[in-house]
Amino acid sequence: MYRQITFWASFLIFLLAPCSGMKNSSYQNPVLPGWHSDPSCTRVDDVFFCVTSTFDVFPGLPIYASKDLLDWKLVSHTWNRESQLPGYSAGTTGQQLGHYAATIRYHDGTFYVICVYLGAPAEIGVLYTSKNPYDESAWSDAVTFNASEIDPDLFWDDDGKVYTVMAGITLQEINLKTGDLSDSVSIWNGTGGVYPEGPHLYKKDGFYYLLIAEGGTELNHSISIARSTKIQGPYESYKHNPILTNRGTDEYFQTVGHGDLFQDSHGRWWGICLATRGGPSWKVYPMGRETVLFPVTWEKDQWPALEPVRGQMTGWPLPSRTRHIPGQGPFNSDPDVYDFQFGSQIPRNLVHFRVPAKDSFSVTRKGLRILPSRSNLTGIPDNSLLSGQNGLSFIGRRQTDTFFTYSVDLDFDPNSVGQEAGVSVFLTQMNHIDLGIVLLDSDSSPNSHRSPRLYFRFRTEASTMDNIPIIPGNPQPPKAVPVPHSWIGEKIRLQIKTLNETHYEFSAIPFSNPHAAMKIGIASAQLVSGGSGTFVGSLVGTYATCNGAGSASKCPDGGSLYVNRWRYTGDGQITSANENL
Ligand SMILES: *[C@@H]1O[C@H](CO)[C@@H](O)[C@H](O)[C@H]1NC(C)=O
Ligand SMILES: *[C@@H]1O[C@H](CO)[C@@H](O)[C@H](O)[C@H]1NC(C)=O
Ligand SMILES: *[C@@H]1O[C@H](CO)[C@@H](O)[C@H](O)[C@H]1NC(C)=O
Ligand SMILES: *[C@@H]1O[C@H](CO)[C@@H](O)[C@H](O)[C@H]1NC(C)=O
Ligand SMILES: *[C@@H]1O[C@H](CO)[C@@H](O)[C@H](O)[C@H]1NC(C)=O
Ligand SMILES: *[C@@H]1O[C@H](CO)[C@@H](O)[C@H](O)[C@H]1NC(C)=O
Repeated sequence: MYRQITFWASFLIFLLAPCSGMKNSSYQNPVLPGWHSDPSCTRVDDVFFCVTSTFDVFPGLPIYASKDLLDWKLVSHTWNRESQLPGYSAGTTGQQLGHYAATIRYHDGTFYVICVYLGAPAEIGVLYTSKNPYDESAWSDAVTFNASEIDPDLFWDDDGKVYTVMAGITLQEINLKTGDLSDSVSIWNGTGGVYPEGPHLYKKDGFYYLLIAEGGTELNHSISIARSTKIQGPYESYKHNPILTNRGTDEYFQTVGHGDLFQDSHGRWWGICLATRGGPSWKVYPMGRETVLFPVTWEKDQWPALEPVRGQMTGWPLPSRTRHIPGQGPFNSDPDVYDFQFGSQIPRNLVHFRVPAKDSFSVTRKGLRILPSRSNLTGIPDNSLLSGQNGLSFIGRRQTDTFFTYSVDLDFDPNSVGQEAGVSVFLTQMNHIDLGIVLLDSDSSPNSHRSPRLYFRFRTEASTMDNIPIIPGNPQPPKAVPVPHSWIGEKIRLQIKTLNETHYEFSAIPFSNPHAAMKIGIASAQLVSGGSGTFVGSLVGTYATCNGAGSASKCPDGGSLYVNRWRYTGDGQITSANENL
């Protein structure tokens, strides 16, 4: 009955809407909460598609699809097979190299994702294509090109020529089949801010409009625009640049910049860009750079006007709310309720740091099996076997909420010293917070028999921040707490929960007696904000390692981890400085 009434009510609103002039909408930013940096979007019919940058993370370059600009479904990853760019992941040493900012465009039945891969052995342009973005396997192998700069754009001119514009800002013709480029021409240097980058070219009312990011992707970040009647220039800078920034303000959303513009099917303009929550003190921002949406007013022959980025936004009417999007894949804002039933796929929003070793993750009758990696989460830099370059046995999802609870049930029965399984808030190998279950020698007491025993070990790794005394509890010495004897032999639930906006609490819970939970450690989210991961954002996830034991690429036998119950629940967002929570 109720459904019928709402049906007729919506029908009535639908009939009346054109007469009353559809009402402007209000919505909350970020529309893609959690680490979603350098967004680029395009629309095909009534579906919007966006790609975001992922650096070392595999699978990478996620494609999100939406019909209403608010509910975003993760429909595929552009880079989802090692063979698309063979050898590159293993050759990449840096913590935030890999796939940089991409552009997504659609032309004549094909989707194009173009970006620059940094790291192995040198910087190289990569172009992936697909005729079906809902099917991961439809993404092509990479066509590579000699990129001299980062952040390539793709633009088809009316005369059929195809151009790429890169940081700098430079223009080149590109052959989409071979990757051949024409000579590079400097077309704009921006308005004088550092790092003119992230360019996108649009043609409107006889002008070529060049939208760029400037000022670096930190507090000075901004968006500027120039235009020309010829694609090669000269480009005239808009006199009111920057057209979008929050620099020098006390807004909760900072680092606003690196955007893209597109139209909905009613011809209204919108833009997306990246922003970081946490205000101008810019100290605690574990989710890194997130994707925000803003309305754009762009009249004929005029420069576009971009609405400033806030948590609470108003603007053009939004398309009606619907989750009716083809393909598999979770919505970004949904909780994880994963039980890893035998025969199921590993859910698409769970990702790794670099391409993992073959077979290290599989869904078995006992749940998600994780074979340990010799490299632990930190690893040993420059040691190809222990650096993690050939795969870290870590699987995680983005922290997408200011407040959340994450837990997994671990079935873990190690048999040699050093074998460990646990949960982590992971930004990079140099910035992570872990609670592990680890077999250690119990040689600390004088009358011990030196027989190994199981410990909970709580560790914070933030060595790149050792000289930052303002972080409470950094460095924090590792803490080992014996696993109670009565817990051994059964599953143990490890949990990470936000205590407040700035701190995580790590606990262990025995399977048969949830009331006996032990709170093991508390750490500041500042340890996973910036540091060695200024471009990336935190993942929360699970790992297994033998901490360097074994030889070549093999851990000692045993120490496999089975994960049975994986839960992530968002418990709330903060989107302004004066929210009382
Ligand atoms: C890139 O440069 C290398 C060396 O200069 C050259 O051998 C190769 O053909 C170039 N590739 C493309 C796609 O232009
Ligand atoms: C940008 O600066 C470079 C280096 O100074 C210069 O060579 C180039 O001509 C400039 N480009 C434009 C479009 O002004
Ligand atoms: C922002 O720009 C100003 C002026 O150019 C400069 O003094 C300041 O160091 C910059 N701040 C950051 C965080 O880059
Ligand atoms: C509706 O939103 C657009 C885009 O932000 C804005 O230009 C316009 O003034 C708004 N209209 C009203 C009535 O608020
Ligand atoms: C968050 O919790 C930590 C640990 O209890 C505490 O030190 C910190 O002051 C709290 N922060 C806020 C903003 O309440
Ligand atoms: C991580 O592994 C390295 C060897 O690969 C080892 O030296 C280090 O102690 C390990 N870290 C921990 C916390 O066990």
